[in-house]
Amino acid sequence: MGMDSDLFCEGLVRRFGSNAAVDHVSLDVPAGTFFSILGPSGCGKTTLLRLLAGFDKPDQGDIHIRGQRMNDVPPNRRPVNMVFQHLALFPTMTVGDNIAYGLKRRKMPLAERRKRIARVLEQVGLPGLEHRNPQELSDGQRQRVALARCLVLEPTLLLLDEPLGALDLKLREQMKVELKHLQKQFGTGLPPTGCLTVTGPSCMCARNP
Ligand SMILES: Nc1ncnc2c1ncn2[C@@H]1O[C@H](COP(=O)(O)OP(=O)(O)O)[C@@H](O)[C@H]1O
Ligand SMILES: [Mg+2]
Repeated sequence: MGMDSDLFCEGLVRRFGSNAAVDHVSLDVPAGTFFSILGPSGCGKTTLLRLLAGFDKPDQGDIHIRGQRMNDVPPNRRPVNMVFQHLALFPTMTVGDNIAYGLKRRKMPLAERRKRIARVLEQVGLPGLEHRNPQELSDGQRQRVALARCLVLEPTLLLLDEPLGALDLKLREQMKVELKHLQKQFGTGLPPTGCLTVTGPSCMCARNP
């Protein structure tokens, strides 16, 4: 295992009854890289990400992030953030408050929070939209806010569960380029961020080589 791998996992298994949703999966994601897993619906993508984020426990196997074993570390202590497949922004909070949520929990002062929010909104291509409500945004814009909400926490590893699923084909291609660009940008930032995305069949047909 490279000690500088953002993610290293070996022989991960998660069974639901007799069904092995994750069946001996091993991965090595080098630091700061963009790593995609493609697979049809039901093949275990979300289950795998939940194991990595700590929302679920493997029946077998080990998970290391930046060389540290994570199996017994609770989700809030893992340097990981997950953007869920069915993204849920808080509908009654502004875009800025949605993004600030994790920062507030970390007790970051207001002035610093505002600065970070403005910066991350610029990075996802939505500058100045702090005061909008989620329902005043397009699907693609909402998806980018969900991404911003995670990016702002500067995780070592960003887990994206079908981040392009809700988008039409054209927007999806555009977002793919943007995601890679973003990830590179963050990769050169203070804590480099590795990015693991999982992608369903609707994206596979539109996939770049
Ligand atoms: N909580 C659960 N209980 C029982 N079976 C589950 C549970 N979560 C997922 N599964 C099953 O595990 C398999 C993988 O599901 P999932 O990881 O959601 O697939 P994907 O995200 O690739 O569509 C499916 O067969 C699904 O029915
Ligand atoms: Mg899924």
